[in-house]
Amino acid sequence: MLQFHINTEKCTRCGLCIDDCPASIIEFNDDNLPTITVKKQDSCYKCQHCLAICPTAALSILGHDPLQSRSLIDALPDPDRLETLIRGRRSVRRYRDEDLDPALIRSLLDTAWQSPTGVNDRRVRFSLIDRREELDIFRKETYEALGRLATADKLPEERKFFAGIVNRWQEQGIDIIFRGAPHLLVASAPRDAATPLPDCLISLAYFELFAQSLGVGTVWNGLFKWTIDELVPQLRQRLNIPDQHLIGYAMAFGKPAIQYERTIDHGPAEIARFKG
Ligand SMILES: Cc1cc2nc3c(=O)[nH]c(=O)nc-3n(C[C@H](O)[C@H](O)[C@H](O)COP(=O)(O)O)c2cc1C
Repeated sequence: MLQFHINTEKCTRCGLCIDDCPASIIEFNDDNLPTITVKKQDSCYKCQHCLAICPTAALSILGHDPLQSRSLIDALPDPDRLETLIRGRRSVRRYRDEDLDPALIRSLLDTAWQSPTGVNDRRVRFSLIDRREELDIFRKETYEALGRLATADKLPEERKFFAGIVNRWQEQGIDIIFRGAPHLLVASAPRDAATPLPDCLISLAYFELFAQSLGVGTVWNGLFKWTIDELVPQLRQRLNIPDQHLIGYAMAFGKPAIQYERTIDHGPAEIARFKG
């Protein structure tokens, strides 16, 4: 059940909820109040646009009280600062040897999880290592497994370079895969979701920007993605990633040991125009 409720004293019958519903399932009832007939409830995307658009906070759905929502009026970030965040975001490859506050990690994840998903599927799963002692164990397991593959000459041709990465770890203790970060996040989603890969990537992109706005460093973890997808798939179980999930991507994060002082410039965007 959608728990679609209208506060009849607050509703002005403006019809904005009806006009904005992407599934077109809200209609006026005989009392001229918005309603969703039982027959149409299954078609609801659960996007909550109806709750978001109501000018008088008269509409509640899925048990959400509109008065608990944040107001969007005059509340958005300054665009100049937002642009600085986007331009100033850097891949952080040196971290302090300390855990982030669990409440901060929770807030980063809960916020990133608000990102859009195809047909509002909302089945991205965040697999998380939130304690550096645990990532130390996982790191060791990862390098040991890669080391066994390298020693047995079982690394596929295009991943032979991992032997050098393992060497750096074994001989110098330099962690090129996780960049010495205290935390690891992997976004996965069921393969049968409409758009599992974009769903995961978008959620991680949102995570990264919100994290960096709070002084948390992040780095996209391509080396680990190859490791878990192609070389050591048994690591999936260690991260509680269901078999039927596609791994979107991985991101290491934590408190940076460095600070970037300024933005850089990659030049203007490459833009192709309509050929018509
Ligand atoms: C999909 C993706 C995978 C990446 N994988 C790694 C990685 O495995 N290790 C790493 O140190 N950096 C990785 N990076 C970071 C890029 O090297 C980095 O974004 C690029 O050099 C530009 O630097 P910046 O992010 O500081 O602007 C990855 C970035 C992306 C987008």
